[in-house]
Amino acid sequence: MIQRAQTAAPPASDAVHGIRPFSVLRTDLGPWRTRRRSWEELGLHSRRGREHVSTYSTGSDPVSRKHATIGGGLSTFDPVLAELSYRWYCPDGGSILDPFAGGSVRGLVAANNGHPYTGIDLSPSQIDANEETAAAWRDRDLLAAEPRWILGDSAEQLPRLPGGSFDYVFTCPPYHSLERYSDHPADLSAMRWGEFEQAYREIIAETVRCLAPNRFTTWVVGEVRGSTGMLRGLVPLTIAAHETAGARLYNDAVLLNTLGTVPMRLGAQWRASRKIGRHHQYVLTFVKGDARKATAALTS
Ligand SMILES: C[S@@+](CC[C@H](N)C(=O)[O-])C[C@H]1O[C@@H](n2cnc3c(N)ncnc32)[C@H](O)[C@@H]1O
Repeated sequence: MIQRAQTAAPPASDAVHGIRPFSVLRTDLGPWRTRRRSWEELGLHSRRGREHVSTYSTGSDPVSRKHATIGGGLSTFDPVLAELSYRWYCPDGGSILDPFAGGSVRGLVAANNGHPYTGIDLSPSQIDANEETAAAWRDRDLLAAEPRWILGDSAEQLPRLPGGSFDYVFTCPPYHSLERYSDHPADLSAMRWGEFEQAYREIIAETVRCLAPNRFTTWVVGEVRGSTGMLRGLVPLTIAAHETAGARLYNDAVLLNTLGTVPMRLGAQWRASRKIGRHHQYVLTFVKGDARKATAALTS
């Protein structure tokens, strides 16, 4: 909304705030950082409501294996990635569904850009915090549409939503047990891998059902290791589950994160296990129906 007015010259049609849709998305470069600062200055508190979350790394060395209460390694969603994804893949004013809402970022960015947003999350404290932040944004006239959060298990809540009623699905699911959100039996981060896989497939199938025909859906996922150190294959699982549900993989981008503490941790990890220092995630975009028609809905 107000941020769009700051663009000085009309951008090339594919660029948003100087960022173009290449297959590697560079969060470390100037245009991305400048835009992220603009969002932060508006007051995005993506960690609010996430005090209960703990991180768990399945690395084999003692340091990376320990449970840590959040403060340090907690993931927070990048508002620029949300904004770009909405601008690139969601029709103007189109509705957005997010089955693993987490913090308020995706909802606030959607509503600021005029998209009605529906997020589902199991955590009552997270939803309370999100609504509090949204109320403050509403008071400051920063919302051009309404964000709403539904408390509950997506496997139960999604089947209650009408089929074909959303224009875009955009989410960042639990990366299995990398972060632990709660002990709730429906919490995907608390499940054993086999249960996780089944629940994850069901939720993906439901989001595809909720999506209108000829529309895109984007999942931001990272790989995780199991207890034997092998990669779980969350990325191929996400692709296979969408294909089974009737949405085909259309774009695969790599989100390059800043290095942060990765260089400090890498030495011991590499010497002990030859595990590389991960600082990327995947941005997987699928299409339900015809990609040309989905594209036409964005430009008409
Ligand atoms: C990866 S987090 C989202 C974090 C994201 N990086 C952010 O800050 O927006 C995933 C969310 O999924 C929620 N969750 C886990 N299992 C769920 C389920 N079965 N239904 C709905 N939400 C669930 C957790 O409470 C957590 O907030």
